[in-house]
Amino acid sequence: YRDLRVALLGCGSVGAQTARLILEHGDELAARIGARLSLAGIAVRDVDAKRDVELPRELFTTDAERLVQGADIVVELMGGIEPARGLILQALQGGADVVTANKALIAAHGPELSDAAEQVGAQLSYEAAVAAAIPILRPLRESLAGDHVTRVLGIVNGSTNYILDRMDRFGDSAEDAMRVASELGYLEADPTLDVEGYDAAQKATILASIAFHTEVPVDSVYREGIANITAAQVEAAKSAGYVIKLLAIAERLTSSDGVDGVSARVYPALIRRDHPLAAVYGGKNAVFVEAEAAGELMFYGAGAGGAETASAVLGDLVSAARRHVIGGPGIPGSLHAELPILPVGEVTTAY
Ligand code: HSE
Repeated sequence: YRDLRVALLGCGSVGAQTARLILEHGDELAARIGARLSLAGIAVRDVDAKRDVELPRELFTTDAERLVQGADIVVELMGGIEPARGLILQALQGGADVVTANKALIAAHGPELSDAAEQVGAQLSYEAAVAAAIPILRPLRESLAGDHVTRVLGIVNGSTNYILDRMDRFGDSAEDAMRVASELGYLEADPTLDVEGYDAAQKATILASIAFHTEVPVDSVYREGIANITAAQVEAAKSAGYVIKLLAIAERLTSSDGVDGVSARVYPALIRRDHPLAAVYGGKNAVFVEAEAAGELMFYGAGAGGAETASAVLGDLVSAARRHVIGGPGIPGSLHAELPILPVGEVTTAY
């Protein structure tokens, strides 16, 4: 196989897991892609910082700009707006494809970066930016491209879902639930991003833009967090047959004066107990999509976590790598006989 040079920017929990998967699954990925992902380096602020995964020291560099030069694919997992934005533009202008998990950056500068990619015929993908492991952007962008999406309704913030769920199922006070969520490391370093709905609003912007093929600026998203939700409100909702969930909603609406448009909003909403979103417990995420022909679809899974988010990053990375091999849309399609067929073992009838 020929090598594709992959430059990794950032080595927090997602970056470390991404590096691990590239190194550990190298042979399997090479067979699937038709080229080998060669990790050219990992740009970090401090080469000696403690990492979640032990990685070869010689991979680390503090010179991100230099690492980006000559890369075939750049994976940006440093977070924040700058220097991430500048490095992604540099990568695209140099002809590299880019994969990022940076929701804040895509929510604020997605159209600018997508235009930059389009101008040079490069691929910019960010499946991991919304609901981590859950494949939702690619299904909206590709699988549902021929349908008419009418609404996207999701639980896209794991920590607030965890807090509301503790209050609902275990009767915790808001303060206690928040403390446990914090001990478990579910909250962002600045918990206001979660609790006040900023994180969910960034994800709503991205979902709305893709579902409705329209630029939806993050400051056009109505936003209300869960800071004012009390145990008494949760209890009252419960006795009325509802559960309170922080929802991100993006939908097509017709205004009172007949204008068709898009509305995106984040707020704590009442969900009927028999709605599939009511059963999304703990720190999990789920996105419910309604489309004219497809009807209702639900995507469920882990919305945070190092390895979980890295799964989505790797999916984008493989897709970008395939483009280098086949020169077209990067979806691995051919069957490579990776595994032998085994006889059917013991049959389990209950799951
Ligand atoms: N703080 C975020 C959450 C992390 O709770 O969902 C994943 O984006």
